Amino acid sequence: MSANARVVAARALSDIAVHDQSLRQVLAARLPGVEDSRDRAFVSAIVYASTRGWLRWNAALQLLLVKPLPRKLAFVQALLVSALTQLEDLNIAQHAVVAASVDACGAFGHGAQRGLVNAILRRWLRERNELLKRLDENVEARFRLPEWLLQAMRRDWSGEVDAIIAASNHEASPMLRVNIARTDRTQYLLALDAAGIRAQPHRWISSAIVLEHSLDVAQLPGWADGLCSMQDGAAQLAAALLDAPPNARVLDACAAPGGKTCHILERGPVALTALDRDPQRTERVRENLDRLRLTCELRAADALQPDAWWDGRMYDRILLDAPCSASGILRRQPDVRLHRRASDIPELVAQQKRLLRTLWPLLKPGGSLLYATCSLLREENAQQIDGFLQERTDAEPIPIKLPTGREDGAGWQILPGEDGIDGMFFARLRKQASDLVRGRRHIEHVPGTLN
Ligand SMILES: C[S@@+](CC[C@H](N)C(=O)[O-])C[C@H]1O[C@@H](n2cnc3c(N)ncnc32)[C@H](O)[C@@H]1O
Repeated sequence: MSANARVVAARALSDIAVHDQSLRQVLAARLPGVEDSRDRAFVSAIVYASTRGWLRWNAALQLLLVKPLPRKLAFVQALLVSALTQLEDLNIAQHAVVAASVDACGAFGHGAQRGLVNAILRRWLRERNELLKRLDENVEARFRLPEWLLQAMRRDWSGEVDAIIAASNHEASPMLRVNIARTDRTQYLLALDAAGIRAQPHRWISSAIVLEHSLDVAQLPGWADGLCSMQDGAAQLAAALLDAPPNARVLDACAAPGGKTCHILERGPVALTALDRDPQRTERVRENLDRLRLTCELRAADALQPDAWWDGRMYDRILLDAPCSASGILRRQPDVRLHRRASDIPELVAQQKRLLRTLWPLLKPGGSLLYATCSLLREENAQQIDGFLQERTDAEPIPIKLPTGREDGAGWQILPGEDGIDGMFFARLRKQASDLVRGRRHIEHVPGTLN
């Protein structure tokens, strides 16, 4: 890999880990500046692995430094953390990592720190065994997760916590959603095979394909023509669970970047309104709709202010894919572990509650709302829905049963990595017709297959 590519990787990592920027946005901004496609793949692999390993290898770096590096040397800090990640997690040869990291330091105008970088990495290699033992005494360094999140995982999922931690620290295989409006999965698998791209159908999610390796999406057959999208299998469950009949009026209240919006439209004709309060992210929904050749009413608007966007006609189906901790998708968004704080959770829970309360009156009697999060925290999921059911006598849960996961309260929880998919929670709530509201009734309706 060129010294320039290593510089790009370290700058990206310092943007993410020191300056709190989003990994996806940083890579989207920085990767186009790297000319060679192999260098781009390498930068991306280093940035993902170093973000995943930041809490461990930055702690190792602190053991090697006499005093922490000042913020103006964030690039050097990131370069060293990425070098430790390459040595320990990516198994790259020692001489290559040390020499190239020293060169990258010089190439980015930090020539004065070349000696420091060289000395730190050589000391790590000499004292590695002893330092690894010391690292394991620090719980965040050992499990590569912030302490508050580890505590919350243990509180909510004590029996499953080891598997959750392992999955959250593991790179997830890329997954595709086949656009069934334009092709079918068998045909698309043949097209992948003809293009030399190794892939498997997901065991039970009928639209999902698991790729063996990451690749540039432009290499995927028919990408520009909208034959497929990148989307984890768990997210692909939402459209089937929403179960919108043909021509139903559907609201997707928190739609950006539009993965689930597009999937709902691919499955059949519906009158769909997609909202997101973030105008930039709403633009990404537009791009996805255009590439997939789909249409719907798209608005940059706050779902909590229906007076500003609602035409007064009730919906048959509402998808509330609520803003959440994203604690179920650390495999694909490793920066969540660095950016999410314990103090964010009460505000997210309050926002979810407000969204449920505001959107419920917009649902037709007999219609249903699908609540979804990519969280594994019960306060955002089962407890949130159970609280809502306590306050609404006209809401009743429609049980969900899927081949993966477990019932939790009135919903269904999938934990990260189960059957190769992300952690997600779903709950389906049906609104009783007003003449049927006589206390809570339990409707037995289990979706048959997820096609
Ligand atoms: C989990 S993401 C949605 C992902 C999307 N459904 C998909 O499948 O691609 C949550 C989204 O909710 C949006 N959001 C948060 N609060 C909102 C509100 N009050 N009104 C509308 N959108 C909101 C955020 O901007 C964010 O894009």
